[in-house]
Amino acid sequence: MADKGSCSFFLTVYVATFLVVHADIKLYTQVGQLFVYELERETFQNEFVPYLKHYGQVHDDRMAFKCNKQSFPDLPRWLRFTQRDTSDNGFLYGTPLEEDQGKNVIEITVINKRSYDTFRERMVITVEAPGKRIPYQAEFYLPHREIEKVLPSTVQEDIKRDIQRMWGTERLDIVNITSALDRGGRVPLPLEGHYEGVYVKVGTDQYFSACLLKLQTPQHQQECEAGGKSSGDCSTCTDPSNCITWCKSTLIDLSRPVLPPPAPTPGSGILEIGGFYDPPESPPSRDYFLDYIGTVIVPLTLAIILCLILAYIMCCRREGVKKRDAKTPDIQLYHQRTILGNTDELRSMAGGRGVPQPLSTLPMFNTRTGERVPPVQRPFRSDSSHIPLIMAQEDPNTDTLPR
Ligand SMILES: *[C@@H]1O[C@H](CO)[C@@H](O)[C@H](O)[C@H]1NC(C)=O
Repeated sequence: MADKGSCSFFLTVYVATFLVVHADIKLYTQVGQLFVYELERETFQNEFVPYLKHYGQVHDDRMAFKCNKQSFPDLPRWLRFTQRDTSDNGFLYGTPLEEDQGKNVIEITVINKRSYDTFRERMVITVEAPGKRIPYQAEFYLPHREIEKVLPSTVQEDIKRDIQRMWGTERLDIVNITSALDRGGRVPLPLEGHYEGVYVKVGTDQYFSACLLKLQTPQHQQECEAGGKSSGDCSTCTDPSNCITWCKSTLIDLSRPVLPPPAPTPGSGILEIGGFYDPPESPPSRDYFLDYIGTVIVPLTLAIILCLILAYIMCCRREGVKKRDAKTPDIQLYHQRTILGNTDELRSMAGGRGVPQPLSTLPMFNTRTGERVPPVQRPFRSDSSHIPLIMAQEDPNTDTLPR
């Protein structure tokens, strides 16, 4: 009995926790209206142990958020997420368009940067049809702001109040807030007093005030192009960081219906229904003979001529062959001839001495024994190998002298 009771108790607790944890955040917004949702770290701290308040100690962990459309890698086109640092809150913001109507299921994964625990939450944003028409819109540039600093509703109210004063109406809605970085702006230097800049678009059903209409005068455009300063500047700002750049302000009038682009006028080349397509005559034949001469024949002739010149130089003008006809001496042949001549001269000189040739100049002469060996017997004699080498270098002329 007790078992059963505790079991059902735990089941109830479990189901209750299940319901609490998996209750989706349900939000509603309208087409053409700015949607902002702040992901507060303080709220999510209760999902991580130790919770926000534990034994009187308040915990404040760093957190990162990952947001995506359910079963998609990224957010819907109209929705953006921004978080400056893991110690700041995150923001989901954007303005849905007509085609974004319906339910958007967003998955939010919270990563606790201290424990690396994660927590997942689902958010269902229902985009409803536009409520009221806001045909008169204007966009202002706030150079001293960052997107995260503008999204909190208190700052939005401050900005709205300034513009209400300029416009002269209370019925003013913020249509869009965009970081200048999403419009091709540059990341500022990480210095004090440098900001990314924010574009704020507001809209109302009341026509532009005289002050705002100065933005459309040609004088305003000229002055802005010339020096970036306009004399008609009637902007006001209670907080200096909410001041706008007058020259970057634009008015958007959506009250006049946008004319559809004119239908294209059919040209003469369009075939009538049931007509017969007569292909145009093929273009007149062109004479390519000159091009052929210029690109093929001339280079080919040049190549052949060069080839022939080279062949003549290589085969017929070689110096050795040439010497036979002319008397120019070829160095190698001349060399050989002189050696031959010198040898002959030496031979004849030696023959003319009338003295027997020195024995040492005769083949196979043993300088020690004075014995002469016929060359055929030499391999059978071994003592010739014992001749001291130094003797072989003796002057042949001293050989004949008695020892
Ligand atoms: C809001 O601004 C973003 C970024 O410039 C743009 O892509 C989007 O179309 C704008 N939405 C509306 C409704 O003006």
